[in-house]
Amino acid sequence: MENLKNSESCDPSSFLRHFRKSSATPVMLLRHIAQAMATEMQEGLDHPGERKLKMLPTYLECLPTGNERGLFYAIDLGGTNFRVLRVQLDGKEGRILKQESIQVPIPQEVMTGSSKDLFGFLAKTIVQFVSREADLGFECVALNQKRDIGFTFSFPVNQTKVNGGSINAWTKGFSISDGVGEDVVDQLEIALADMGSVNTKVVCLVNDTVGTLAQCRYWNDDAMVGVILGTGSNACYVERAAAISCWSSPPEADDLTVVNIEWGNFCSELLPRTFADEGLDADSLNPGQQEFEKMIGGMYLGEILRRVLLKMAEDTGLFGSEIPERLTKPFSLLTPHMSTMHGDDTSSLEVVGSVIEEAIGVKYTTLATRKVVYDVCDIIAERGARLSAAGIVGILTKINRCGDLMLSCLTTPNDTEVKKTVIAIDGSLYEKYPKFRNYMEDAMKEMLGEDYANNVTTTLSKDGSGVGAALLAAAISTELRLGDVGVTK
Ligand code: BGC
Repeated sequence: MENLKNSESCDPSSFLRHFRKSSATPVMLLRHIAQAMATEMQEGLDHPGERKLKMLPTYLECLPTGNERGLFYAIDLGGTNFRVLRVQLDGKEGRILKQESIQVPIPQEVMTGSSKDLFGFLAKTIVQFVSREADLGFECVALNQKRDIGFTFSFPVNQTKVNGGSINAWTKGFSISDGVGEDVVDQLEIALADMGSVNTKVVCLVNDTVGTLAQCRYWNDDAMVGVILGTGSNACYVERAAAISCWSSPPEADDLTVVNIEWGNFCSELLPRTFADEGLDADSLNPGQQEFEKMIGGMYLGEILRRVLLKMAEDTGLFGSEIPERLTKPFSLLTPHMSTMHGDDTSSLEVVGSVIEEAIGVKYTTLATRKVVYDVCDIIAERGARLSAAGIVGILTKINRCGDLMLSCLTTPNDTEVKKTVIAIDGSLYEKYPKFRNYMEDAMKEMLGEDYANNVTTTLSKDGSGVGAALLAAAISTELRLGDVGVTK
């Protein structure tokens, strides 16, 4: 964005006009971004670990079908809370007969302690939860049989097998003194063994996108893509096992697996970045990384808004002659503030006014000012939502499920059959920010064309990161019982 201070006019409306222009995402641009995403995905597959898109293999050889039966557990660590769940499955007739979970906040001293403290805390919570199995009327696992656990661990992991992988780095507020490079599952199993009593086995280690996809797939075979649009952002998809070049003993060439794209790290000259994105990135803990996530993730949208409003306050006097002190503090505006203001449908924008007062400390605002703030929220949310849509259409391009509107040079040329495709999505932006969700879905229709878009459905896969992992544990255990696959190849 050009330096507005030196431009011909610095009133809020011309600032807004420029900002809108530099954030614009016309459909042709989105199509190019989608194509770039598809190309980068292929590059990431062809050059494991060497490209921006890591395209992490999950080593999964099956997805839930609905036929699974029995009692299965999941544990979910991805942020400041830890969840443990159990589900009682009864095949296609009974489906999920019973489900129960607990969620505990992770104490600050554990988040910044040693990995022994962290895994000890997880193990203790698991043991307590497992011990209440019988009290709550769940089927009890036989004494000699292990309880199968699906482990959702939403941190960067170098996965080496379906139930193992080492931590690349601690993120999201965790600052554990050690553990990087260690196998996550081994550490948990050691901690569980130290506790003595429970008979458990982690059968899969998955990312939250994979759990989201698995939960949807349990109900619908057309589910091909899992997306998280929440604090962080990422996607996974169903890929041919043969495409995973680093898999030393892949299943049959036609078999399918799942790839965790880690799309947050996508970057491209095509992305419509503004001064706010550049400033945010430069001041972030990981400059130069997660460029895409920083334009669409809930962790960042509010901070982009703060940066734009601060610049408007400085350059155009949006809030009067003084710069509101709180607006100068990073992360004083959060995405929930933004979505609340953006959801204001009162004619006088009262809600916008009260959020400005509460979050920024500016007591009196004119309707014109509130309207400007509302419009900035709209521009940032619309751009994030439309870029998310481009990411999804990029995946559809890669798997040849996007119609003939996109130029797909990456997939089997003869595969012209139109297949239904379901995109499983979880995360607060999709679930709790209706304007974001609408913008995203409209952009997908625009890109795919109304007719073809009828073959593509987006659906909320709520709590997929937890339940989905239990369903995956069930699917793997079922296959193992049938003798079809070896989990720890
Ligand atoms: C992480 C991904 C995760 C996503 C959504 C990103 O920051 O890198 O692994 O899937 O957040 O939680």
